Amino acid sequence: ISFVILMFVVAFTEDVIKIGAYFPMTGGIAAFGQMTWQGIQLANEERPTVLGKKIQLILVDNKGDKVESANAVSRLIDQEHVVAILGAVASSDSLAGGAVAEAKRIPMVTSSSTNPLVTMNKDWIFRSCFIDPFQGLVGAKFAFNDLKAKKVVIFMDIAQDYCVGLANYFEKTFKGYKGTSVVREYYNTGDQDFSAQIINAMDQNPDLIYIPGYYSEIAIIARQLQDMGYTGKILAGDGAEAPELIKIGGDAVEGLYFTTHYNAEGPATPKAREYVKAYKTKYNKIPDSLGALGYDAYNMVIDAIEKAGSATPRNIRNALATLKSFEGVTGYITIKDGNAIKSAVIDQVKDGDFKFIKIINP
Ligand code: PHE
Repeated sequence: ISFVILMFVVAFTEDVIKIGAYFPMTGGIAAFGQMTWQGIQLANEERPTVLGKKIQLILVDNKGDKVESANAVSRLIDQEHVVAILGAVASSDSLAGGAVAEAKRIPMVTSSSTNPLVTMNKDWIFRSCFIDPFQGLVGAKFAFNDLKAKKVVIFMDIAQDYCVGLANYFEKTFKGYKGTSVVREYYNTGDQDFSAQIINAMDQNPDLIYIPGYYSEIAIIARQLQDMGYTGKILAGDGAEAPELIKIGGDAVEGLYFTTHYNAEGPATPKAREYVKAYKTKYNKIPDSLGALGYDAYNMVIDAIEKAGSATPRNIRNALATLKSFEGVTGYITIKDGNAIKSAVIDQVKDGDFKFIKIINP
């Protein structure tokens, strides 16, 4: 018993504040984890202390896997005694990790998981990104009004909560427009051959293919679409935004549109301009959405600790739940039911780069 008490005292009187993080640093969506972590590290360099204490970040690689995610969150809480957690990237992973954080009453902020279930009926889970009912609506509106699409085929990754959700939200809005039709084709994370689905899709003679998946599969699908003679448009969601999309997809992803969170060319707040400078200085490249969202998630937690004047999990949670007009790099963030209400961006792959098309407000 005395050992347990001692551990307890040590955990709460240390002069460091421990914040956990679980992101995919290896595996199929490793590019996302690395980009996010770069944003968080920059934020931590700029703000290394709070309430006079050093902030210690503890990163666990969840490999983009649900079971690894749940284990990572358990370990961060039980062994590292973190007071808050950042992560994960993929919605399926945040659902798994979030269930553990909720049960153990440690606040968690996901920077990029957009599926609504991640925060629904949860008291301890928050996010710095928008949610997919909004992203799906933005995509459908853009497809109908700007791309003039009527016949859409959706490629849905049934292994990912994010992809299933976003496909459904897109379809719901898009089908509400006059004279439109939607057909679905299904695949699984890690699939390499999409020829059967592409043959079915081509039979529909679509003017748009919507792929709300992750970059590896989007790039391969786009390549095979091109090889099989598809010349129409392609639209994707935020899961497209990684340099790997272009590395793998090459000229097959040229012209592809996607909805996302942030583009350095369209600063949503004054802070966004400073971020571009700081990020370019540190990393010698143009900032991406995931890094910006990670940067915002970190600062939301530190702001919450500052505002609460305390770094206990309960006080951090309460401050996060009432966060208002927080000035982030990806927009102004006001938390409602754990969610952030904010703008979306449309980008297009142009000359092997991500070109800013426009910002869409909620
Ligand atoms: N929104 C995706 C999800 O919920 C993750 C993601 C966000 C990927 C932003 C890339 C960019 O799974």
